[in-house]
Amino acid sequence: MGDADISNRPHLFDALQARPTDSLLALIALCDADPRPTKIDVGVGVYRDGAGNTPILRAVKAAEKQLWEQQQTKAYLGSQGDARFVELIKPIVFGEAGAASDRIVGVQTPGGCGALRLGAELVRAAKPDARIFVGQPTWPNHEPLIATAGIELIGYPYYRTAAADILFDEMMAKLETARPGDLALLHGCCHNPTGADLSSREWDEVARVIAERGLLPLIDIAYQGLGRGLEEDAYGVRAVLDVCHEALIAQSCDKNFGVYRDRVGCLFVKTQSPETTATAFAHLLQLAREAWSMPPDHGAAVARMVLQDEALTADWKAELDEMRQRIATVRERIAGSDERLAFIADQYGMFSMLPLTTEQVVKLREKHAIYMADSGRFNVVGIADEAIDRFCAAGIEALDTSATHG
Ligand code: LMR
Repeated sequence: MGDADISNRPHLFDALQARPTDSLLALIALCDADPRPTKIDVGVGVYRDGAGNTPILRAVKAAEKQLWEQQQTKAYLGSQGDARFVELIKPIVFGEAGAASDRIVGVQTPGGCGALRLGAELVRAAKPDARIFVGQPTWPNHEPLIATAGIELIGYPYYRTAAADILFDEMMAKLETARPGDLALLHGCCHNPTGADLSSREWDEVARVIAERGLLPLIDIAYQGLGRGLEEDAYGVRAVLDVCHEALIAQSCDKNFGVYRDRVGCLFVKTQSPETTATAFAHLLQLAREAWSMPPDHGAAVARMVLQDEALTADWKAELDEMRQRIATVRERIAGSDERLAFIADQYGMFSMLPLTTEQVVKLREKHAIYMADSGRFNVVGIADEAIDRFCAAGIEALDTSATHG
C-alpha cells in the first residue's frame, strides 16, 4: 500500500506540539558545532583533567578487562539489576552500620535519573497526592523527572546567586510549612547547580526538622567523593537517616566512577520496618519492570568488580582523590583571579554559578566561545589548565559589564 492510500486520514503525530530541546543537551550540541579551537566547554557536568580529557578511570579499565575475560553470560539478571553491586554501594553511602540495616533496601537503576524517577513512582503508589519541596535553584532535570510522575512541586529558597550564599533560614522556614508525608528533596553533596553545600551543623538542623514534621527525605547523591571526600560527602545522608524512619536515596556512580554513558545508579528505600521494606522492594521491582524491565548491566558489573577487589578499590579511591584535588585547585585559581570570584573556593563539586544574565552568558558564548548554562552555571573542571586564565579574564569582563550596567 502506498502513502497515497492513507493521505486523507488524520495523522496521529500531527497532534504533537513543537517542544524545546533540553537546554543542557542543546548546549552540548552548540558547543560541538563551534569550530573555534579556543572554545571552553563548561556546560555539562563531566570531569576533565588538566589537558581537557575525560579519561576512563584506571580501575574501571582494569575491571572492564577482567569482565571481558571472566563474564560467561549476558543472560537476564532481573529487575533488581546486579544485587552484589547494590550491596557493595550500600556501605559507601550509609557507612558500615547503616549498610547492615534490614530496613534499607536498594535496586540498581539506569543512573541517578532512573533512581529519582523510580523513587517518585514509589511515592505516587503509596501516596497519590504527594507533594515535594524542592530547593531553588535545583538541577533542571529534577522537575521533569519528579513532576511527570505526578508529584506536585513546591519551591523552597536555597541560594542567592548575587550574594553567593545559602538562604538557610528561609529554607528552614519553608520546610516548617510542609505537611506530614510531604517530601523534601535534598542534594547529598556537591549541590547542582550552585556548589553551595550545607555544613554539618546545617544538615543536623535539616534532619531534625524533617524528622519532627514527619517529612519524607529524598536525597539525590550523584557526586559522592568529588566534594569534601567519600566519607565526608555522605554526612548529610547519614545524619538524616539517623533520625528519619523513612527515606529515599537516589545514588549515582556515573560521576565518581566516570561511567557517565553507562548509566549506573541505585535507589535505596528505608521504611519503618523490615516487613514494609520487603513490600517496598517488591513494588520497586514491579515499577522497574514497567519502566525499563532491567537496568543496563555493564557499568554496574564493572563498578562491582572494582569494589570487590581490594587493590582496584584502593586505586579507584586514589583516582577519585586526584579528581577532587583538581576540582579544588581549579576553584582556588578562579577564586584568586578576582575578589568577586572568591566564593568559588568555598564551594564543592563540579559546579558554581556566575551572577550573569542570560544575555551575558550568550555574549560569553559568542565572543569568547565559552559554553556555560544560561543560568550562569559552569563546570569548574570543564576548563583545561591552559584555558583557566582566559576563562577568568572573560568572566571578569562579564562581571565588569554587570557592574557598569547595574
Ligand atoms: C549535569 O547537570 O550537567 C549532569 O547531571 C548531566 C545531566 O544529565 O544534566
